[in-house]
Amino acid sequence: LAPPLQDAQGRRMTYLRLSITDRCNFRCGYCSPASWGGKRDLLGPEELERITSVFARMGIRRVRLTGGEPMIRPDILDIARRIASVPGIQHLAITSNASHLERLAVPLREAGVTQLNLSLDTLCAETFRRISKQGDFAAVLRGIDAAAAAGYASLKLNVVVMRGVNDSEAPALVDFAHARGFVLRFIELMPFGQGTPVPTAELVEHLKASGLPLELEPDDAQDAATAGPARYWRAPSGRVGFISPLTQNFCGGCNRVRVASNGDLRSCLGGRAQAPLHQLIRGGATDVELAVAIRRALGDKPEGHRFTEPGNGATLLSMMGIGG
Ligand code: GTP
Ligand code: 5AD
Ligand code: SF4
Repeated sequence: LAPPLQDAQGRRMTYLRLSITDRCNFRCGYCSPASWGGKRDLLGPEELERITSVFARMGIRRVRLTGGEPMIRPDILDIARRIASVPGIQHLAITSNASHLERLAVPLREAGVTQLNLSLDTLCAETFRRISKQGDFAAVLRGIDAAAAAGYASLKLNVVVMRGVNDSEAPALVDFAHARGFVLRFIELMPFGQGTPVPTAELVEHLKASGLPLELEPDDAQDAATAGPARYWRAPSGRVGFISPLTQNFCGGCNRVRVASNGDLRSCLGGRAQAPLHQLIRGGATDVELAVAIRRALGDKPEGHRFTEPGNGATLLSMMGIGG
């Protein structure tokens, strides 16, 4: 299925984000849809494995499972095992709210998952309830501890920063993460749901004013290899990343392609649905036909998202089906 996957701008695609469910056991206002509608057509473990294998033969090397909450799928271990063993896949990561990790941290590690990004927006039980509506804060904290003990190659905490909700907790969250050896990343809120974003520059100043000496890491220390969205700063206690889709767009270096939970390929987080992979598979498409559809969709990948243009947020699918 060579040559390697490229988009119209010549960007090489090496990183596949697979949203494996649009459901979640929490209801964070910045992520959840107002209501769930439409037909759910989730990909099964074998279909996910097959899609991954087609992508791997076109140069995809990293896979991230997202959701919704990926760990609410009862077949999550089967999915992880299958994807980790696809030839060419070097890293398998999961983004999760951590609530199922007390039970799953070790089995997922054994299934071949190498990296976890875990959401933790607050250290205050009341604020947690306000953000997640129905999340179990104690289970999240136990899950994070279980992950720390399970020997993952990389553990990162994600904080979506919302003005007047959790922005004042930024210094405490840095302390929490660094005391446990985690990398922490603050994320500018994208307009998929409720809440007001805080620009990264303002947050950096807030952290410095709180007494945290922060220095921007030189370019060669950034995560160039993974072309991750975060820009990292260094504090004496550890790294602090900032993901700034609104004020410091990182689309130019994009290496990502997404499959939403309904099996539609999305070449951009902020773009339209393209290539209905699930439908094609159900219709009996061969691997070559899938590859042709994927290439055609990537030929249409936009240069970048347009979240900052008025009215665009509301027209986008919720974060839950696309997987962030
Ligand atoms: P690694 O770099 O592999 O650690 O993954 P990641 O940081 O991209 O994954 P994660 O799921 O933890 O996402 C963190 C934040 O970055 C979430 O808010 C995502 O929505 C956002 N994000 C990830 N990829 C993109 C992207 O291509 N575009 C935009 N605008 N946001 C992204
Ligand atoms: N803006 C930025 N990040 C978001 N996430 C969910 N919704 C949003 C949003 N509107 C984050 C989650 C998780 C990752 C999958 O995406 O906190 O870390
Ligand atoms: Fe669930 Fe994560 Fe979305 Fe919160 S951000 S509702 S934990 S998928």
